Amino acid sequence: MKLIIFISIFLGLLASSFAVPAASGLPYGLSAVRSVTELPYPVSKMTFLGTLGGHDVQLNGSIEEIHSQMTVLHPEFDPDALLAAKKLAIRDTGSELIESELEGRSKSNMICCNPGSWGADPGRIEQGIDYLDHFNGLCGVPARTCVRISCSWGSAIYLCNDNYYGITPTCPYMASYAQDILNTCPMYSWTVQTSYCGQEFDTDSYNIIVRGDNC
Ligand SMILES: *[C@@H]1O[C@H](CO)[C@@H](O)[C@H](O)[C@H]1NC(C)=O
Repeated sequence: MKLIIFISIFLGLLASSFAVPAASGLPYGLSAVRSVTELPYPVSKMTFLGTLGGHDVQLNGSIEEIHSQMTVLHPEFDPDALLAAKKLAIRDTGSELIESELEGRSKSNMICCNPGSWGADPGRIEQGIDYLDHFNGLCGVPARTCVRISCSWGSAIYLCNDNYYGITPTCPYMASYAQDILNTCPMYSWTVQTSYCGQEFDTDSYNIIVRGDNC
């Protein structure tokens, strides 16, 4: 009996340590992730303007949606073939490193989600990052909205714009934020594998969110 009481007190304490108020510890004035379901702005569609598989395109949606539009427009288009080609090119020139060093200067702060938030699967986010790396062009987000850059198997990358005008940062640069979040914001749990959830800000008043989502 004593043991049972002890165990239930122990579990109670653990449960309360996870019930952290959602908004605690967040800097004022930032559109930080407060809970699992809440994004700072309404969601609209990403616009992409650039080159995919040698085609100049203007398409809207997440990278997964754009891939399926591409296979309709250009039946020979194969996103995975692009990935393989790009990996070889990077190994030869080391060009990725130079790119990330140049662009790293305008990142500001990072906020990891509270324990118990809905995290993303690292493998799915890595795949989104790889695809985004070969989106050779601009990823557009309207004023004061969030767009879903990537979402597959319950794991999403969002781009949110705090400005009162639309912005079009380069897509591969957006991938580098998602990678930073994977490097910084693991969420451990007893039962499932480590998931990742966080938000990284840029000094140009936009931010990238990685988290779990319905897709
Ligand atoms: C994508 O969205 C832009 C801006 O809303 C619009 O002008 C354009 O026609 C759309 N393109 C496609 C292919 O739907």
